[in-house]
Amino acid sequence: MNILILGSGGREHALAWAVMQNPKCDKLIVAPGNAGIAQIAELADLPIDDGAAVVDFCAAQAIDFVIIGPEAPLAAGVADRLRDAGVLVFGPSAAAARLEASKSFTKEICDAANAPTAAYARFTDAAAARAYLQTQPIPIVIKADGLAAGKGVVVAETLAQAEAAVDDMLGGMFGAAGAEVVIEEFMDGEEGSFFILVDGETVLPIGTAQDHKRVGEGDTGPNTGGMGAYSPAPILDDTVQQRALEDIIRPTMAEMARRGMPYQGVLYAGLMIKDGVPRLVEYNVRFGDPECQVLMMRLGAQALDLMQAAAEGRLDQAQVHFADDHAITVVMAANGYPGSYDKGSVIGGLDDLPQDSSNMCFHAGTSLKDGAIVATGGRVLNVTARGANLAEAQQRAYAMVDKINWPEGFCRRDIGWRALTR
Ligand code: AMP
Ligand code: GLY
Repeated sequence: MNILILGSGGREHALAWAVMQNPKCDKLIVAPGNAGIAQIAELADLPIDDGAAVVDFCAAQAIDFVIIGPEAPLAAGVADRLRDAGVLVFGPSAAAARLEASKSFTKEICDAANAPTAAYARFTDAAAARAYLQTQPIPIVIKADGLAAGKGVVVAETLAQAEAAVDDMLGGMFGAAGAEVVIEEFMDGEEGSFFILVDGETVLPIGTAQDHKRVGEGDTGPNTGGMGAYSPAPILDDTVQQRALEDIIRPTMAEMARRGMPYQGVLYAGLMIKDGVPRLVEYNVRFGDPECQVLMMRLGAQALDLMQAAAEGRLDQAQVHFADDHAITVVMAANGYPGSYDKGSVIGGLDDLPQDSSNMCFHAGTSLKDGAIVATGGRVLNVTARGANLAEAQQRAYAMVDKINWPEGFCRRDIGWRALTR
């Protein structure tokens, strides 16, 4: 099978790593990829949000299966173009991708499906939004309706912060993505991420994870795309997973099918759990990054069979073979991230790292320059390890971190603490 993966981050490196282990994979191309991915697959320079260009590339390269990593090509309809052209693809249609691309759409689906989530109201007018805020308890959550590169959510601790967020978003800070805001009840509890494959009809859970969004140790400081993650998430035990499936996942997926936009791909449910009861915080229509890295480490080669079964509508016959293990990933970021940071610093020590089924350093933002691996992004490496328990996985991951010679980068030293101190 000739396979094309779209994307260039640590998520796509982990997907490529798992796919390559499956003997079914004859050829793997990743577009555009990065320096780490180049060590295991062919790279192609392709405008991945351009459906027609991706379709042409698939014809020229005899691609049998396309796996779409990030949300942008999904929201742009690349999966639709591929399906129209008869190419097998893993990832939802643009219509179904609205579950991530529009917060108010997701709220509407939850209402119709009676799925537990935060109470909310939607506004396009700042005066009306401000008047509503006066009637609501604080903290309160303000969200830009559309995709805002992970920056469109403000958890306001004061009324003044809430008003400022409303004014910023409706004032055009995120362009069209903020033309409408959703104002949501603040939900208390512990967050966990639940990953489910969906083939339009059947849903198949493939694992849980928790991430560390704040840049600083002890979960302090500004928000980031994620500084580390681990799987499984102890808060999402079997009972909570079953409850999430019955109350949230199945009814919303059935509602999508009923509306003529069946969901196919991976569904990433961000859940808030309080007293064993999960409520939906958000849906994403792709794997989390860096959550994918820990999921792939645990699933290995079967990930390809499962994604293919989802794409072919055969999930009712598929089975996940869960290993009784734990995985952790530590993000190494460029000094300054999530603020401004320098690009181009050389990363040493990567050649001496173990690379096996328990240890992998996935690349998130690197390129090759004059024979050296250099940092080209904010989040740069995802140092990932597996172990019989979380403590062992953590010890292995930090042992790898300590072998990396990159003074211009940093990581948090406490990834996994919440689960380890439970
Ligand atoms: P989202 O982009 O929707 O995942 O929001 C980013 C983060 O904001 C989430 O991971 C939560 O930590 C937080 N958040 C979003 N909505 C709520 C809510 N209704 N109550 C509490 N926290 C929230
Ligand atoms: N790590 C959070 C995300 O991928 O959205």
